[in-house]
Amino acid sequence: MYLRSFADSDGDGVGDIGGLRGKLPYLADLGVDAVWITPWYPSPMADGGYDVRDYCDIDPRFGTLADADALIADAHRLGLRVIIDLVANHTSSEHPWFAAALAAGPGSPERQRYFFRDGRAGGAEPPNDWISAFGGSAWTRVVEPDGSPGQWYLHLFAPEQPDLDWDQPVVREDFDAVLRFWLDRGVDGLRVDAAPAMAKAPGLPDAGHEPGARFESRTWIDNPHWDVDGVHDILRRWRALGDSYEGGRLFVTEAVVRDPERLSRYVRPDEMHASFNFDYLTAPWEAGRLRRVIDESLAALEPVGAPATWVFSSHDETRHVTRFGRAFTGAGFGGAAVPESPTDLDLGRRRARAAALLTLALPGSAYLYQGEELGLPQVEDLPDEVLQDPTWERSGHTDRGRDGCRVPLPWSGDRPPFGFTTDGVEPWLPQPSAWSALTAEAQRDDPASMLSLYRTALHLRRSLVDLHAAPLTWRPSGDDVLAFDRGPDFACVVNLSARPVALEGRVLLASGPCSGDLPPDTAAWLSSPGAG
Ligand code: GLC
Repeated sequence: MYLRSFADSDGDGVGDIGGLRGKLPYLADLGVDAVWITPWYPSPMADGGYDVRDYCDIDPRFGTLADADALIADAHRLGLRVIIDLVANHTSSEHPWFAAALAAGPGSPERQRYFFRDGRAGGAEPPNDWISAFGGSAWTRVVEPDGSPGQWYLHLFAPEQPDLDWDQPVVREDFDAVLRFWLDRGVDGLRVDAAPAMAKAPGLPDAGHEPGARFESRTWIDNPHWDVDGVHDILRRWRALGDSYEGGRLFVTEAVVRDPERLSRYVRPDEMHASFNFDYLTAPWEAGRLRRVIDESLAALEPVGAPATWVFSSHDETRHVTRFGRAFTGAGFGGAAVPESPTDLDLGRRRARAAALLTLALPGSAYLYQGEELGLPQVEDLPDEVLQDPTWERSGHTDRGRDGCRVPLPWSGDRPPFGFTTDGVEPWLPQPSAWSALTAEAQRDDPASMLSLYRTALHLRRSLVDLHAAPLTWRPSGDDVLAFDRGPDFACVVNLSARPVALEGRVLLASGPCSGDLPPDTAAWLSSPGAG
């Protein structure tokens, strides 16, 4: 969940820990096992909290350490685990470490925590050709304490997010203390932000990027600033630290890399437990592509013994209700730009409902993004002046960025702020008035709602033992149909074709009306499906 947009308890228009605490019963009732919370640390919010000023405190906008403790305790009482975000590739440029590095000047030990280098061309050009994920060069030049134009520092994300040099022992030791700080407080796991960024090739050689190149980390091979092998030493160190806690702690990485084989390296037995599956997230709504991603993901993870993960939406990606209603239904995360076209939200919602049953029937763990259980679309018409994602500025106003999937949730009522914050207060991003039909309250008791579908599917998933461990086996089916068994008594059929398909077995749950045949863009869970 994206904390700023989940629920606001103190009436400042920004979601907070108190708001989340109040909604924990909703999450428990929904049937999720754990909550991953985006960064809650003190931050200037140049990148929505992924620019951390202090790793061992809570931003006052979100609450206090006491609130965090209370949240963890409440969650545990309700049987929910808490996973927090570990942003270790970079700090905020307002972190005291960076301020000290700036003040201490070239050659100082303080600068060694980060990547400060002299520029090329007598200092006027960046030290190499590396690019930022948010557009433009990955280097920014500083003014030295004596006022002269000085060295450059590296930031693979925004200039307000200077990269740490993980070859420095002091960086490793300081982060051990950060991990212990939170694990000692009872946090159950950590989501490792931008993991492939954490190691850089020695000597920081040019990457060979063409002028104007985009950050396409899903296509790069042997890139000197992404997915460099040294990152695995850091992950092993953290795993050992997590394992020193009774029962261990969960680590899940964000690793947008080339293919499932590269991804599997992040989840070797002594590294992370799981890693988000961006091949699945970016796959278009096409049976062949989805089947290939599912097969390749499972095959690559098998040798390392790690569970697969499945995810269609996040705080970084266009909501899939909107994507699935477009002419091109894939997503662009970490890859080439995708063509945007008008969306048919009815079609997108039908497909999103089917996608929920697909995702929740696959072996491994599923990650849902807040609001997908309400069927929220991307907000595509936010006025320019409210946009906050650094991508908007860094792209020279050509890429509107990720704000459209971060609009605060509609909880209740028939007009903004829909119970997200105190009536009369404007949420930090405006909500569409059409969301009155999509509030959690409006959907709660409607058996046909998206919320009811997710809730029913999540509870069934927990009670159907075949869905816990049985392997996936494909059933014979048409090219545009995904049909698989999980054990002898469970099957999932997803119809991505334009024609109805016949169903065999008793329907446990369907994503849309179906009597006998399964209509297009509909999925069903079946029991005792027979031999197919
Ligand atoms: C990850 C986060 C994203 C953030 C970036 C830089 O991709 O999910 O929101 O902007 O890392 O920290």
